[in-house]
Amino acid sequence: MAEFTLPKNSKIKGKGHAYRAPEATKVKKLKVYRWDPDKRENPRYDTYEVDLEHCGPMVLDALIKIKNEIDPTLTFRRSCREGICGSCSMNMNGRNGLACTTSLDELPGEIRITPLPHMEVVKDLVPDFTHFYAQYASIKPWLQTVTPPPSGKERLQSPEQREKLDGLYECILCACCSASCPSYWWNSDKFLGPAILLQAYRWISDSRDEMTGERLDALEDPFRLYRCHTIMNCANACPKGLNPAKAIAETKKLMVERQI
Ligand code: SF4
Ligand code: F3S
Ligand code: FES
Repeated sequence: MAEFTLPKNSKIKGKGHAYRAPEATKVKKLKVYRWDPDKRENPRYDTYEVDLEHCGPMVLDALIKIKNEIDPTLTFRRSCREGICGSCSMNMNGRNGLACTTSLDELPGEIRITPLPHMEVVKDLVPDFTHFYAQYASIKPWLQTVTPPPSGKERLQSPEQREKLDGLYECILCACCSASCPSYWWNSDKFLGPAILLQAYRWISDSRDEMTGERLDALEDPFRLYRCHTIMNCANACPKGLNPAKAIAETKKLMVERQI
């Protein structure tokens, strides 16, 4: 094991480690952010060489290989391995995404992996979602009704009403969009950010929900909704191809319409 020192201009001051794969013919280097709250040390990057001949095709495969075979202390979240649970969101070569749906091939050269930007870090690549989830809970993300179901059973929707949820219900709450939004970086204490606002619009758009007015009232505030300045990073970052900026624009439109 050799050691290297990070560039002087790096904010990361810790000394990293390099793990080599001397026998391998096809090697990929992953430079991974490391920080352990239990050690009184600065964050650092460790560099791992992964033998691609014996590794799956995705960034998550490489991270799992590192954890299993090279360094069991490396910490990251993952569950489904197929872009459904949203737990493996991280920043890879400057772009937020899901490690399980990002192939090693699409990231040329050395891959630099950090936690989602502008979020507190629990350990290594694990961001602290406590505030994000509290913001999610604040929009009451469940069906709210005051009248009994008309049929006494289910609340039915026409195909057209159901279609209005397309592009919204697919959100997996990975936070890639919110962590790419400069407005959220600076105002996340008060601005709900693109992920939570897309979720809010998902319930506003639901024909079965009977709290639309109250939901809009809760967003009528200089920060919660209106700190979106249409920067559009969110739409570029979403690994599910969703467009939170559009959901936010539609919500703003409803705010105006109800004034008329
Ligand atoms: Fe993730 Fe996309 Fe949902 Fe944002 S809108 S939380 S990027 S799935
Ligand atoms: Fe941010 Fe997206 Fe608005 S990047 S400012 S939420 S359009
Ligand atoms: Fe579930 Fe990546 S492990 S989305």
